[in-house]
Amino acid sequence: MSKLAGKKIVLAVTGSIAAYKSALLVRLLVKEGAEVRVLMTRSASDFISALTLSTLSGNKVFSDLVDQKENSWNSHVELGLWADVMLVAPASANTIAKFAGGICDNIITAVYLSARCPVVIAPAMDEDMWRHPATQSNITRLKSFGNQIIPVGEGELASGLVGQGRMAEPEEILEYLIKHVAVSSPASQKKNQKKKLSGKRALVTAGPTYEAIDPVRFIGNHSSGKMGIAIAEELAEQGASVTLVLGPTSLAPDHAGVITQRVTSAQEMFDAATQLFAKADIAVLSAAVADFTPEKAASEKIKKGSEDRLNLSLVKTKDILATLGESKRNGQILVGFALETRDELKNARKKLRKKNLDFIVLNSLKDAGAGFRHDTNHITIIDRNEKVFPYELKSKQEVAADIVNFIIQKLS
Ligand code: CTP
Repeated sequence: MSKLAGKKIVLAVTGSIAAYKSALLVRLLVKEGAEVRVLMTRSASDFISALTLSTLSGNKVFSDLVDQKENSWNSHVELGLWADVMLVAPASANTIAKFAGGICDNIITAVYLSARCPVVIAPAMDEDMWRHPATQSNITRLKSFGNQIIPVGEGELASGLVGQGRMAEPEEILEYLIKHVAVSSPASQKKNQKKKLSGKRALVTAGPTYEAIDPVRFIGNHSSGKMGIAIAEELAEQGASVTLVLGPTSLAPDHAGVITQRVTSAQEMFDAATQLFAKADIAVLSAAVADFTPEKAASEKIKKGSEDRLNLSLVKTKDILATLGESKRNGQILVGFALETRDELKNARKKLRKKNLDFIVLNSLKDAGAGFRHDTNHITIIDRNEKVFPYELKSKQEVAADIVNFIIQKLS
C-alpha cells in the first residue's frame, strides 16, 4: 500500500548543491501516493530546474511571492494551510537562519511562517557552516518551535572536504517522514475521513479569457468566475485537493484547499488544464473560454490612422473541454457547462456527446437570475444517459453544492 496516500506535502528546495537530490525525493514521495507542491528559492534554481520538479510533481513550482508574468499573487497562506507537512530539503544555512529569526523575504520563508502543519527540515551545508555556533543555535531555536530536524549525514561534501553536513539521502528522508511525522494531524485526519472527496484531485476552470489584440486591447467576456470559484471551494470543502485555473477576474477563492493558477488567454488555460487533467479524478470546466482569438496580436498599439474600418482576423481557439474528453480515462469525471440562448436542451445534449462528458450543466441566458454577474443561478443537469435533472433558482454556493453532490453520486 502507498504509505503516503493522499498526503499533501509542500517541499521547499533552497540553494544548496544537494538540491539536485530533490528530483529523486519528489519521485519517491509521489510514488508513495503523496501530492507534492514544490517551492524553490531563486538560488535553488542554480542547482535544479523548476521544469524538472514541476514535471515530476505534476504541479506548478512556485519561486516568487508575486508571479510577474501573470501579475498575480502566489498565496503563501493557502499553501501553508493546504499542506499536511512542510518538508524543507535541502535547507541551507541561510534559510535556517531566516526561519530562526522570523525573516520573511521569499515564498519559502512566507509559507514557513504561515504553515500550521508539522515542519521537517533536512539541513545541507559544509561541515564548518554546520558546526558554527550561529547555525547550531538556530537549529536549537527551530527545535524549540517544534520543527523536526532530520540528522545530517557524514561523508564527502561539495567543498571536497569530508565531514558532517551532507543532506540525508532522499530514501532516508522518505523513511523519516513515514516513521516520525504524523503527516496529517489526528484532528485533520478525523475531519478528512468524514469527507466524501478526500484523497481525490480536482481541476476546475473558471472566469473569462482575454485574447490580446495589441499590448493594450483584448477580446474578453463578462464572466466573473463566481460559479467556478464556488464549485472549487465546495469540492475542497468535501476534502478534494483542488487546483483552480482562473482567468482574469478580480475575484479569488477563499478556501485553504484550493490552489489557484492564474492564466490570461485561452491558450494558457488550455496548457494548464491539459497538464493538470492527467492527474485529476474530477474536472469541472466552467470557464467562459473565448472561442476565437486574433490571428496575430500586434506587438505595438494599433493606431487609429485614417481608415474608417479595422478588420481583425480571428482564428478558433482550442476547445479545452473537448480535448480533455478525448483523453478521459475510466473513472475520471468530466463536467462541462453549456450557456445557451435557444434550443437549450438540444444544444446541451449535443455538447455532452461531442465532448464525451459525464454530465453537463445547462444555463439558459433566458432565465431570470442566471448567467454572468448574478449571485444566483438556475441550472439543469443532463447526464450521460441524457436524463434531465432540473433545479430551482438558487445562490451560486447552493448550486455549487448541488453540482458537487451530483459528482459524488457519479463517483460512488
Ligand atoms: N470550453 C472550453 N474551451 C473552449 C470553449 C469552451 O473548455 N475553447 C468549455 C466551457 O468551459 C464549457 C463548455 O466548453 O464548459 C461549453 O462552452 P460553450 O461556450 O457553451 O460552448 P462551445 O463549445 O464554445 O459552443 P458554442 O459557442 O457553439 O455554443
